[in-house]
Amino acid sequence: MTEQTIILITGANSGVGYATTQVLASYPNNHIIMGCRDLAKGQYALTEIQNTDPKGTISLLQLDVEDDTSISKAIDTVTQQFNRLDVLVSNAGTAAPGTSGRAQLSQIFSINVFGAMLVSEAFIPLLLKSHRPYLIQVSSGLGSVTQACDPQSPYYPAAWDEYRMSKAALNMMTIQMHKRLQERNVRVFAFCPGLVRSSLRGESEEAVSAGGQAGDPLESGRGILGIVLGERDGEAGGFINKDGRLAW
Ligand SMILES: NC(=O)c1ccc[n+]([C@@H]2O[C@H](COP(=O)([O-])OP(=O)(O)OC[C@H]3O[C@@H](n4cnc5c(N)ncnc54)[C@H](OP(=O)(O)O)[C@@H]3O)[C@@H](O)[C@H]2O)c1
Repeated sequence: MTEQTIILITGANSGVGYATTQVLASYPNNHIIMGCRDLAKGQYALTEIQNTDPKGTISLLQLDVEDDTSISKAIDTVTQQFNRLDVLVSNAGTAAPGTSGRAQLSQIFSINVFGAMLVSEAFIPLLLKSHRPYLIQVSSGLGSVTQACDPQSPYYPAAWDEYRMSKAALNMMTIQMHKRLQERNVRVFAFCPGLVRSSLRGESEEAVSAGGQAGDPLESGRGILGIVLGERDGEAGGFINKDGRLAW
Protein backbone atom coordinates (compact mmCIF):
# COMPACT_ATOMS: atom_id res chain seq x y z
CA MET A 1 0.00 0.00 0.00
CA THR A 2 1.29 3.50 -0.87
CA GLU A 3 2.33 5.60 2.09
CA GLN A 4 -0.02 8.51 2.83
CA THR A 5 1.18 12.07 2.32
CA ILE A 6 0.82 13.86 5.67
CA ILE A 7 -0.10 17.53 5.17
CA LEU A 8 -0.58 20.14 7.90
CA ILE A 9 -2.43 23.35 7.00
CA THR A 10 -2.50 26.20 9.52
CA GLY A 11 -5.61 28.38 9.62
CA ALA A 12 -7.51 25.58 7.90
CA ASN A 13 -11.02 26.44 9.08
CA SER A 14 -11.63 29.32 6.70
CA GLY A 15 -10.88 30.92 3.33
CA VAL A 16 -7.73 29.72 1.56
CA GLY A 17 -6.91 27.12 4.25
CA TYR A 18 -10.40 25.62 4.11
CA ALA A 19 -10.43 25.49 0.31
CA THR A 20 -6.93 23.98 0.26
CA THR A 21 -8.09 21.29 2.69
CA GLN A 22 -11.03 20.53 0.38
CA VAL A 23 -8.81 20.25 -2.70
CA LEU A 24 -6.02 18.21 -1.09
CA ALA A 25 -8.51 15.92 0.69
CA SER A 26 -10.01 14.96 -2.66
CA TYR A 27 -6.88 12.82 -3.22
CA PRO A 28 -7.08 9.34 -1.66
CA ASN A 29 -3.43 9.27 -0.72
CA ASN A 30 -3.50 12.46 1.34
CA HIS A 31 -4.05 12.88 5.06
CA ILE A 32 -4.84 16.50 5.92
CA ILE A 33 -4.27 17.79 9.44
CA MET A 34 -6.45 20.88 9.83
CA GLY A 35 -4.57 23.20 12.19
CA CYS A 36 -7.11 25.53 13.81
CA ARG A 37 -6.74 27.84 16.81
CA ASP A 38 -10.44 27.49 17.66
CA LEU A 39 -11.42 23.81 17.79
CA ALA A 40 -15.16 24.58 17.61
CA LYS A 41 -14.66 26.42 14.31
CA GLY A 42 -12.31 23.65 13.19
CA GLN A 43 -14.85 20.93 13.99
CA TYR A 44 -17.55 22.80 12.07
CA ALA A 45 -15.27 23.12 9.03
CA LEU A 46 -14.15 19.48 9.28
CA THR A 47 -17.76 18.25 9.41
CA GLU A 48 -18.66 20.34 6.35
CA ILE A 49 -15.75 18.89 4.38
CA GLN A 50 -16.46 15.32 5.57
CA ASN A 51 -20.01 15.78 4.22
CA THR A 52 -18.55 16.21 0.72
CA ASP A 53 -17.23 12.63 0.91
CA PRO A 54 -13.50 13.33 0.49
CA LYS A 55 -11.31 10.53 -0.80
CA GLY A 56 -8.44 11.35 1.55
CA THR A 57 -8.51 11.41 5.34
CA ILE A 58 -8.66 14.45 7.62
CA SER A 59 -7.97 15.15 11.28
CA LEU A 60 -8.16 18.23 13.46
CA LEU A 61 -5.32 19.76 15.48
CA GLN A 62 -5.47 22.69 17.90
CA LEU A 63 -2.80 25.08 16.69
CA ASP A 64 -2.59 28.76 17.56
CA VAL A 65 0.45 30.17 15.79
CA GLU A 66 0.77 32.87 18.48
CA ASP A 67 0.91 30.40 21.36
CA ASP A 68 4.16 28.50 22.04
CA THR A 69 2.42 25.93 24.26
CA SER A 70 -0.08 25.20 21.50
CA ILE A 71 2.78 24.80 18.99
CA SER A 72 4.67 22.39 21.32
CA LYS A 73 1.56 20.28 21.89
CA ALA A 74 0.89 20.20 18.15
CA ILE A 75 4.44 18.95 17.51
CA ASP A 76 3.96 16.22 20.15
CA THR A 77 0.67 15.13 18.60
CA VAL A 78 2.01 14.94 15.03
CA THR A 79 5.14 13.14 16.28
CA GLN A 80 3.08 10.56 18.15
CA GLN A 81 0.61 10.03 15.31
CA PHE A 82 2.88 10.12 12.27
CA ASN A 83 6.49 10.74 13.38
CA ARG A 84 7.01 12.86 10.25
CA LEU A 85 5.41 15.64 8.21
CA ASP A 86 5.49 15.67 4.40
CA VAL A 87 3.95 19.10 3.74
CA LEU A 88 3.48 22.19 5.88
CA VAL A 89 1.15 24.80 4.41
CA SER A 90 1.85 27.82 6.60
CA ASN A 91 -1.33 29.66 5.77
CA ALA A 92 -2.69 31.32 8.95
CA GLY A 93 -2.71 35.05 8.41
CA THR A 94 -4.53 38.28 9.04
CA ALA A 95 -4.89 41.87 7.89
CA ALA A 96 -6.35 42.67 11.33
CA PRO A 97 -9.44 44.45 9.98
CA GLY A 98 -11.05 46.84 12.44
CA THR A 99 -7.78 47.63 14.23
CA SER A 100 -5.27 50.44 13.74
CA GLY A 101 -1.96 51.77 14.95
CA ARG A 102 0.25 49.67 17.23
CA ALA A 103 -2.50 47.11 17.86
CA GLN A 104 -2.87 46.42 14.13
CA LEU A 105 0.89 46.25 13.55
CA SER A 106 1.36 43.91 16.51
CA GLN A 107 -1.42 41.56 15.46
CA ILE A 108 -0.35 41.41 11.83
CA PHE A 109 3.31 40.80 12.61
CA SER A 110 2.56 38.38 15.46
CA ILE A 111 0.51 36.11 13.18
CA ASN A 112 1.90 36.65 9.66
CA VAL A 113 5.60 36.81 10.53
CA PHE A 114 6.39 35.57 14.05
CA GLY A 115 3.73 32.85 13.93
CA ALA A 116 4.72 31.64 10.46
CA MET A 117 8.40 31.57 11.41
CA LEU A 118 8.04 29.86 14.78
CA VAL A 119 5.61 27.23 13.52
CA SER A 120 7.82 26.52 10.50
CA GLU A 121 10.97 26.23 12.61
CA ALA A 122 9.17 23.97 15.06
CA PHE A 123 8.00 21.57 12.33
CA ILE A 124 11.27 21.49 10.33
CA PRO A 125 12.61 18.46 12.28
CA LEU A 126 9.45 16.51 11.36
CA LEU A 127 9.71 17.68 7.73
CA LEU A 128 13.29 16.41 7.66
CA LYS A 129 11.96 12.92 8.44
CA SER A 130 9.97 12.95 5.19
CA HIS A 131 11.58 11.71 1.99
CA ARG A 132 9.75 14.39 -0.02
CA PRO A 133 9.19 17.44 2.20
CA TYR A 134 7.51 20.70 1.18
CA LEU A 135 7.37 23.94 3.16
CA ILE A 136 4.84 26.35 1.65
CA GLN A 137 4.44 29.88 3.00
CA VAL A 138 1.17 31.49 1.93
CA SER A 139 2.31 34.98 1.02
CA SER A 140 0.78 37.70 -1.17
CA GLY A 141 1.64 39.71 -4.27
CA LEU A 142 1.20 42.67 -1.92
CA GLY A 143 4.48 41.57 -0.29
CA SER A 144 6.45 42.04 -3.51
CA VAL A 145 8.94 44.91 -3.14
CA THR A 146 9.47 44.91 -6.91
CA GLN A 147 5.76 45.41 -7.62
CA ALA A 148 5.42 48.03 -4.89
CA CYS A 149 8.11 50.07 -6.69
CA ASP A 150 6.62 49.66 -10.18
CA PRO A 151 4.12 52.41 -11.13
CA GLN A 152 2.71 50.08 -13.84
CA SER A 153 1.87 47.36 -11.33
CA PRO A 154 -1.66 46.96 -9.93
CA TYR A 155 0.12 46.53 -6.56
CA TYR A 156 1.71 50.03 -6.78
CA PRO A 157 -0.88 52.17 -4.92
CA ALA A 158 0.00 53.22 -1.37
CA ALA A 159 -2.36 51.15 0.81
CA TRP A 160 -2.29 48.12 3.10
CA ASP A 161 1.14 49.18 4.39
CA GLU A 162 1.21 47.02 7.56
CA TYR A 163 0.03 43.87 5.75
CA ARG A 164 2.45 44.45 2.86
CA MET A 165 5.35 44.89 5.25
CA SER A 166 4.47 41.59 6.94
CA LYS A 167 4.34 39.66 3.67
CA ALA A 168 7.63 41.22 2.51
CA ALA A 169 9.16 39.96 5.78
CA LEU A 170 7.60 36.54 5.21
CA ASN A 171 9.14 36.48 1.73
CA MET A 172 12.60 37.22 3.16
CA MET A 173 12.08 34.43 5.69
CA THR A 174 11.20 32.08 2.82
CA ILE A 175 14.38 32.98 0.94
CA GLN A 176 16.48 32.34 4.05
CA MET A 177 14.75 29.01 4.77
CA HIS A 178 15.21 27.89 1.18
CA LYS A 179 18.96 28.58 1.32
CA ARG A 180 19.26 26.69 4.61
CA LEU A 181 17.05 23.73 3.69
CA GLN A 182 17.59 23.08 -0.02
CA GLU A 183 20.54 20.77 0.62
CA ARG A 184 18.32 18.78 2.99
CA ASN A 185 15.88 18.22 0.12
CA VAL A 186 13.13 20.50 1.53
CA ARG A 187 11.31 22.35 -1.27
CA VAL A 188 10.46 25.79 0.09
CA PHE A 189 7.99 28.13 -1.62
CA ALA A 190 6.32 31.49 -1.08
CA PHE A 191 2.90 31.10 -2.71
CA CYS A 192 0.49 33.91 -3.56
CA PRO A 193 -3.08 32.52 -3.52
CA GLY A 194 -4.43 35.45 -5.59
CA LEU A 195 -7.26 37.77 -4.63
CA VAL A 196 -9.94 35.37 -3.39
CA ARG A 197 -13.06 35.46 -1.22
CA SER A 198 -12.30 35.20 2.50
CA SER A 199 -12.63 36.96 5.85
CA LEU A 200 -9.14 38.46 5.52
CA ARG A 201 -10.49 41.92 4.78
CA GLY A 202 -13.51 41.72 7.12
CA GLU A 203 -16.87 39.98 7.40
CA SER A 204 -19.12 42.16 5.18
CA GLU A 205 -19.89 40.95 1.64
CA GLU A 206 -18.05 44.01 0.32
CA ALA A 207 -14.93 42.99 2.28
CA VAL A 208 -15.19 39.24 1.59
CA SER A 209 -15.57 39.81 -2.17
CA ALA A 210 -13.10 42.74 -2.28
CA GLY A 211 -15.76 44.84 -3.95
CA GLY A 212 -16.70 41.97 -6.26
CA GLN A 213 -13.14 41.38 -7.50
CA ALA A 214 -12.22 38.32 -5.43
CA GLY A 215 -12.12 34.88 -7.01
CA ASP A 216 -12.81 31.40 -5.68
CA PRO A 217 -10.35 30.19 -2.99
CA LEU A 218 -10.60 26.70 -4.53
CA GLU A 219 -8.32 28.14 -7.25
CA SER A 220 -5.75 28.90 -4.55
CA GLY A 221 -6.13 25.34 -3.27
CA ARG A 222 -5.53 23.97 -6.76
CA GLY A 223 -2.37 26.07 -6.97
CA ILE A 224 -1.11 24.54 -3.74
CA LEU A 225 -2.09 21.08 -5.01
CA GLY A 226 0.25 21.62 -7.98
CA ILE A 227 3.13 22.24 -5.58
CA VAL A 228 2.30 19.15 -3.50
CA LEU A 229 2.08 17.00 -6.63
CA GLY A 230 5.63 18.05 -7.52
CA GLU A 231 4.59 20.01 -10.61
CA ARG A 232 6.42 23.14 -9.38
CA ASP A 233 9.61 21.51 -8.09
CA GLY A 234 11.69 23.41 -10.67
CA GLU A 235 10.56 26.69 -9.05
CA ALA A 236 11.50 25.68 -5.48
CA GLY A 237 12.95 28.60 -3.57
CA GLY A 238 10.76 30.95 -5.58
CA PHE A 239 7.81 33.28 -5.08
CA ILE A 240 5.04 31.82 -7.22
CA ASN A 241 1.33 31.91 -7.91
CA LYS A 242 -0.82 29.38 -9.75
CA ASP A 243 0.37 30.71 -13.12
CA GLY A 244 4.11 31.09 -12.64
CA ARG A 245 6.86 33.07 -10.90
CA LEU A 246 6.41 36.45 -9.24
CA ALA A 247 9.12 39.05 -8.69
CA TRP A 248 10.20 39.26 -5.03
N1 LIG B 1 -7.91 36.06 0.50
C1 LIG B 1 -7.04 36.67 -0.27
O1 LIG B 1 -7.43 37.40 -1.23
C2 LIG B 1 -5.58 36.52 -0.01
C3 LIG B 1 -4.68 37.11 -0.92
C4 LIG B 1 -3.33 36.95 -0.69
C5 LIG B 1 -2.88 36.26 0.41
N2 LIG B 1 -3.78 35.71 1.30
C6 LIG B 1 -3.25 34.96 2.46
O2 LIG B 1 -3.96 33.75 2.59
C7 LIG B 1 -3.84 33.28 3.95
C8 LIG B 1 -5.21 32.86 4.45
O3 LIG B 1 -6.04 34.00 4.55
P1 LIG B 1 -7.57 33.97 4.08
O4 LIG B 1 -7.70 34.94 2.95
O5 LIG B 1 -8.04 32.61 3.91
O6 LIG B 1 -8.25 34.68 5.36
P2 LIG B 1 -9.23 34.10 6.46
O7 LIG B 1 -10.44 33.52 5.84
O8 LIG B 1 -9.38 35.22 7.43
O9 LIG B 1 -8.40 32.91 7.11
C9 LIG B 1 -7.35 33.16 7.98
C10 LIG B 1 -7.15 31.89 8.80
O10 LIG B 1 -6.01 32.11 9.66
C11 LIG B 1 -6.40 31.74 10.96
N3 LIG B 1 -5.64 32.41 11.99
C12 LIG B 1 -5.55 33.73 12.28
N4 LIG B 1 -4.80 33.90 13.36
C13 LIG B 1 -4.38 32.68 13.77
C14 LIG B 1 -3.57 32.21 14.81
N5 LIG B 1 -3.05 33.04 15.74
N6 LIG B 1 -3.32 30.88 14.92
C15 LIG B 1 -3.86 30.02 14.03
N7 LIG B 1 -4.67 30.40 13.03
C16 LIG B 1 -4.92 31.72 12.90
C17 LIG B 1 -7.89 32.11 11.05
O11 LIG B 1 -8.48 31.46 12.16
P3 LIG B 1 -9.81 32.07 12.87
O12 LIG B 1 -10.95 31.69 11.99
O13 LIG B 1 -9.82 31.40 14.20
O14 LIG B 1 -9.62 33.55 12.94
C18 LIG B 1 -8.35 31.57 9.71
O15 LIG B 1 -8.53 30.19 9.77
C19 LIG B 1 -3.24 34.45 4.74
O16 LIG B 1 -1.87 34.21 4.98
C20 LIG B 1 -3.43 35.62 3.81
O17 LIG B 1 -2.49 36.64 4.04
C21 LIG B 1 -5.11 35.82 1.10
